[in-house]
Amino acid sequence: VLPEKVKIVEVGPRDGLQNEKTLVPTETKINLIDLLSESGLPVIEATSFVSPKWVPQMADQVEVMKGICRKPGVSYPVLTPNLKGFQTALKAGASEVAIFGAASELFSKKNINCSVEESLQRFDEVMKAAKEAGVPVRGYVSCVLGCPYEGTVSPEKVAHVAKRLYSMGCYEISLGDTIGVGTPGSMTQMLAAVTKEVPVSALAVHCHDTYGQALANIFVALQMGISVVDSSVAGLGGCPYAQGASGNVATEDVVYMLHGLGIQTGVDLTKLMTAGAFICRSLNRKSNSKVAQAICKL
Ligand code: HMG
Ligand code: MG
Repeated sequence: VLPEKVKIVEVGPRDGLQNEKTLVPTETKINLIDLLSESGLPVIEATSFVSPKWVPQMADQVEVMKGICRKPGVSYPVLTPNLKGFQTALKAGASEVAIFGAASELFSKKNINCSVEESLQRFDEVMKAAKEAGVPVRGYVSCVLGCPYEGTVSPEKVAHVAKRLYSMGCYEISLGDTIGVGTPGSMTQMLAAVTKEVPVSALAVHCHDTYGQALANIFVALQMGISVVDSSVAGLGGCPYAQGASGNVATEDVVYMLHGLGIQTGVDLTKLMTAGAFICRSLNRKSNSKVAQAICKL
């Protein structure tokens, strides 16, 4: 059985834009987030409080947080890799954050410059500070279906890291197929292992579409009871520490599939496409959303 409702977590302004080669003007980011807010999306990941030396594209995080129009009922989480990031995010007005770990040692090292175990200790500090401040924390696990440096990743390792983040107090764990190599087969195996450790109601899937498997992978996740899906408007993005990985599955395509299945999202596809058209025009590029291509001939 499929869920009646799905919560879509829009990650385009963060996961999408973090990978752009040329600096996207802050004003453009703010406009994009404001347009997305009008589309009925419940969650819009706005930016990340990471080192500007590591990810220059996110260096305007404070200005972005100050510039956006926050729509009541919409949450605007930001990534915080450590206590320093958390404190800056809090000062900038963030009311929800996400910590991001990995199921692969080498990816953890390349992405956040520490081992998986060290990252969990750092996250524990963020978690304590967040609890004190009353800020909800989401947890990411990267490389759940494969790693650009290690190749295969075992479902047990994913389940272990997911469980640690959940036990620490993350209200939701987003399972990231960072390089989009998974298939419905590997997704099923991985979820079977993770759902033994974390309640399915606290899980989300975060699929990149490098190999064109994202919608199929999301569909099997829905069949297994997952009701939170991360996606990126116009299929923007990739991860700077996962070379060659393409963007997340396009939000337009996810919404189209879900509505076709009779699943509610609260998202207005036409308004969402307005946001997609805006960012594609700004970046001077064609949309990676098949639905947007079909409807708008962008
Ligand atoms: P480090 O160099 O080990 O950190 O980086 P450090 O603690 O040794 O500090 C070094 C310098 O960075 C110092 O400055 C710190 O102040 C500064 P300096 O004294 O040299 O001038 N610094 C910071 N500045 C701003 N904000 C901070 C911060 N922390 C330290 N929070 C660090 C460690 C984690 C900071 C670095 O590796 C980093 O920023 N990594 C982020 C990488 C990233 O953003 N990756 C993309 C997001 S993850 C992703 O896309 C996957 C996901 O989508 C899920 C999926 O698809 O699987 C979520
Ligand atoms: Mg990602």
